[in-house]
Amino acid sequence: MRLAHSSWPQVSAYLNRCQGIIIPTGSTEQHGPTGPIGTDALVAQAIAQAAADQGHWLVAPTLSLGPAQFNLGFPGTIGLRASTMMAVVGDVLNCLTAQGFNRFYFLNGHGANIATVNAACQDFYAQWSLGQRSGTAPCCRLRSWWDYPAPDQLRKQWYGSWEGMHATPSELAIGMAVLGEQFPNDPQASIQIQSPPQALPEGYAQSHAGDNHLAAAAHRAQFADGRVGSHSALATREQGQALLQAAAADAHRDILEFFGSP
Ligand code: NI
Repeated sequence: MRLAHSSWPQVSAYLNRCQGIIIPTGSTEQHGPTGPIGTDALVAQAIAQAAADQGHWLVAPTLSLGPAQFNLGFPGTIGLRASTMMAVVGDVLNCLTAQGFNRFYFLNGHGANIATVNAACQDFYAQWSLGQRSGTAPCCRLRSWWDYPAPDQLRKQWYGSWEGMHATPSELAIGMAVLGEQFPNDPQASIQIQSPPQALPEGYAQSHAGDNHLAAAAHRAQFADGRVGSHSALATREQGQALLQAAAADAHRDILEFFGSP
C-alpha cells in the first residue's frame, strides 16, 4: 500500500490493524558517469515497496532529498543541509504520530541519511524523555539496504572490493532493474567507465563511512568522475533483480519483527 495512492478512509482502516509505516529515504545526487541522479531514492523506494507488498504495509512518500553537499560539484545534485533533513524527519514523525502511527521504519538508500535520521529520532524521543509528551513513545528503526545480510553477501561475492563506496555496482544494478529501458543510456560514458576507478586508499571506507566527506571541490578533485572506488561497469540488470529480491526479503523479515514487537 502506498500512502500517496490511498484515501484517508483507507489509511484510517489500516491504522486499525497496523500502526507501522515504512519511510524510504534516498538522495538526489550524481552517481558516476552512467548512474541516474535519483539512484538512492529509486532503490530505497523499490525495496520498500516490494517488502511492503509482502507484508501489506503502508509506504510513505520517499524522502528523496538528503544531505549531499560533497556532491554539489557535479551537475544535478540537490543537497539538504543536515539541519533541514532533521527538521523534515521530525515533522514527518510528529504528523504521523498525531494520527496514531507508532512504528517508523526508515528504509535507507543514502549513507549521509544515517546520522541525520538517527539524530532526528533522538530529538523525537526526547519529547517523551523530557516530559513534554505523555504516553508511550513511538519507536523508530533505520536500516540501509546494503546492510541486510542477503544483498550484502551478493555484493561481496560479485564485486569484492570494487563495490567501493559510491556509484557502486550494486546500487546501479538495482537501478537498472527498477528503471529498465529508462536507465540512462550514454554509450560514451559507458566506454569511459570500462576502466576501473582508482582504488580507495587504505582505511578510506571506514573513516568516511556514512558519507562523511569533505566539501564539494575537494571531493570532486579526489573523485573526478564521481565514482568513489566503485567499478560501476560491473553492474548488470539481472544482478539488480536478484539484489532487489534479496533485500526485499530481508527487509520484510526485519519489518515484521519491528512492527510486531510491543
Ligand atoms: Ni547512492
